[in-house]
Amino acid sequence: MTQIQIGTSDVYTTRLGLGTNKVGGTSRAGVDQEQSGREVVRTALDSGIQLLDTAYMYGQGRSEAVIGEVLKDYDRSKVVIATKAAHDPKHDMQPNNDPAFLTQSVDDALTRLQTDYIDIFYIHFPDATTPKAEAVGALAKLKQAGKIRAIGVSNFSLAQIKEANVDGDIDVVEDHYSLIHRAPEGEEMAYLKAHHISFVPYFPLASGLLTGKYGAADRARFARFVEGAQFDAALQGVAVLRDVAAAHGASVTQTALAWYLAAPGVDVMIPGARNAEQVRGIVGTLDVQLTAAEFQAIDQAFKQF
Ligand SMILES: NC(=O)c1ccc[n+]([C@@H]2O[C@H](COP(=O)([O-])OP(=O)(O)OC[C@H]3O[C@@H](n4cnc5c(N)ncnc54)[C@H](OP(=O)(O)O)[C@@H]3O)[C@@H](O)[C@H]2O)c1
Repeated sequence: MTQIQIGTSDVYTTRLGLGTNKVGGTSRAGVDQEQSGREVVRTALDSGIQLLDTAYMYGQGRSEAVIGEVLKDYDRSKVVIATKAAHDPKHDMQPNNDPAFLTQSVDDALTRLQTDYIDIFYIHFPDATTPKAEAVGALAKLKQAGKIRAIGVSNFSLAQIKEANVDGDIDVVEDHYSLIHRAPEGEEMAYLKAHHISFVPYFPLASGLLTGKYGAADRARFARFVEGAQFDAALQGVAVLRDVAAAHGASVTQTALAWYLAAPGVDVMIPGARNAEQVRGIVGTLDVQLTAAEFQAIDQAFKQF
């Protein structure tokens, strides 16, 4: 798999990564995700995926811990660990960007991951009070100390990203972006490109809606993404994805992911998987090369978002 540089850091990774919010802990449906999570991570690494996107919030440390256990069987230098923190368990999980809290969070993550460095560390959410430059300043010190290799922010508005990047320390931004949530296109992506900051979208499959396996009966399940006529428009867009997928003998999931890999503002993809079979499906994306006309057809089908 081809590699790209994260911002101006010395971190290089494959463009296809793995989202691990379904690794470790217990799902909302009460399913223990530890065993399947180990298999998901192993399958990804065995398939050549390098970047694992995790966070303290995923199972309150369990996703990181499962990754740490699995990594004992792999060459650490070939894996890119991206993790995040901000939710403060002592304050009802409210975001905390205080330098002392972030510094402690990095140390705690290192312990759970059983490693001595984190490749990419993101501030998971902004808080309301800490000056952004102070929060990022703490991460810059951790980078100098070798505990983290690249600095990221997630869920920051463009104004907050600019404030955080006042000293040019931000390497990567992770934000909600998909074919049905295209807000970062335009000003945000232009700023990131101009400042050599990588972009990693989350929810690329809109939690499953863009895989083609859900239909009209699943309206309520995706209400947090699209409602009313927007849901119908999303399904119409999925129908276009299905046509393009058929032309390639590919799945709808692979076709959607192939679109992002061809999209100008996207650097690394981190689709989430519930089991090893889904990981194998995701990896198959690399065999799908969209033509310019197919890219445009998909782009147009979701233009209204
Ligand atoms: N920074 C942040 O604040 C933030 C927020 C959210 C997520 N994230 C990150 O982004 C990652 C991706 O988000 P996500 O996992 O929530 O959503 P997603 O990637 O949009 O969708 C994942 C879902 O797509 C379906 N899927 C995946 N591969 C499939 C395949 N091959 N065939 C059929 N269906 C497939 C599964 O749905 P089913 O479960 O229905 O089978 C899976 O749960 C997360 O894992 C996490 O690392 C970050």
